[in-house]
Amino acid sequence: MPLVHNKVITIERHIIEQQERSDGATGDFSALLRDMALAFKIINREVMQAGLVDALGATGQENVQGEIVQKLDEFANTVIYRAMDHGGHLCGMASEENAEILPIPKEYRCGKYVLLFDPLDGSSNIDVNVSIGTIFSILKRVTPEDTPGELQDFLQPGYKQIAAGYTIYGPSTMLVYTAGRGVYGFTYDPSVGEFLLSHDDIRIPEHGSIYSVNEGNYHKWDAGMKRYIDWAKMDVPEEDKKAYSLRYIGSMVADVHRTLLYGGVFLYPADIKSYKGKLRLLYEANPMSFVVEQAGGRASNGQSRVLEIQPEKLHQRTPLIVGSPKNVDEVERFLNAT
Ligand code: AHG
Ligand code: MN
Ligand code: MN
Repeated sequence: MPLVHNKVITIERHIIEQQERSDGATGDFSALLRDMALAFKIINREVMQAGLVDALGATGQENVQGEIVQKLDEFANTVIYRAMDHGGHLCGMASEENAEILPIPKEYRCGKYVLLFDPLDGSSNIDVNVSIGTIFSILKRVTPEDTPGELQDFLQPGYKQIAAGYTIYGPSTMLVYTAGRGVYGFTYDPSVGEFLLSHDDIRIPEHGSIYSVNEGNYHKWDAGMKRYIDWAKMDVPEEDKKAYSLRYIGSMVADVHRTLLYGGVFLYPADIKSYKGKLRLLYEANPMSFVVEQAGGRASNGQSRVLEIQPEKLHQRTPLIVGSPKNVDEVERFLNAT
């Protein structure tokens, strides 16, 4: 994956150039992504201040940490909605934080896309200054234009996504997205207030030696999953395999971002407590799976391709195994061994 050193390309320029290359693309879609980038800058500003507020709170206000977590979840949710409700591109939104579809206010035009998002992913990491993120997914509506979006516009399988991506608020803030023609990463330069292309055409390694999972759930997993993790930790000389390393941040965005760049596998399997898995299909699994597949990786629920699951509910959950193609193959081999 070539790092870009010789050209300065903002995300806006990149989106326009991408659009010029695709047949039939309209300015609608690039304006939509541009509006999203603005929302991410505003959330980034707030996230960057959260640590400062937290440090002050630690001097005596005991309940501030919990409130900050809640405030940031809610703040990010509101910022995205308000940045996106009036552009005329969307006919509705759905957020992990809201039970129902978020309609476009009556005074604004309804457009041809729907937006689904997890406004703040990894929110339990906010008060310990660990990377968190925002995840988004864009679908083209299936109901007639110029009317409010309906549930069926949102309940489409992931392979129908027009674009998806995430922003990671970490040591540096990055926006990674795909519009179905490769994966591009932009690093936020706060001094100029722009996301600049830093990772051109990201490709995930075919195989990696890192696995990423909440191993505290080990005793709740089924036998196949336990066998895979036992094997991941072993040297297996006859397979020329060394023990894998474990990395687990607990923010899916950060764990999948590392998996994308270094290779390996991120897993959130079903267990006896969360028998459908924990992660949400529409706000987390589908967009991250689309990004990883576009970078040459794979995403599975253990039996089938995540992007082919027909959603039945807005807040449906799914087991998720996502990462380097060969690592996902390995996991499936263990899960499906009788
Ligand atoms: P969210 O903060 O949006 O609710 O998502 C949290 C998710 C995901 O980011 C992460 O991979 C997972 O929950 C961590 O769960 P565990 O604490 O069970 O490991
Ligand atoms: Mn999340
Ligand atoms: Mn969330």
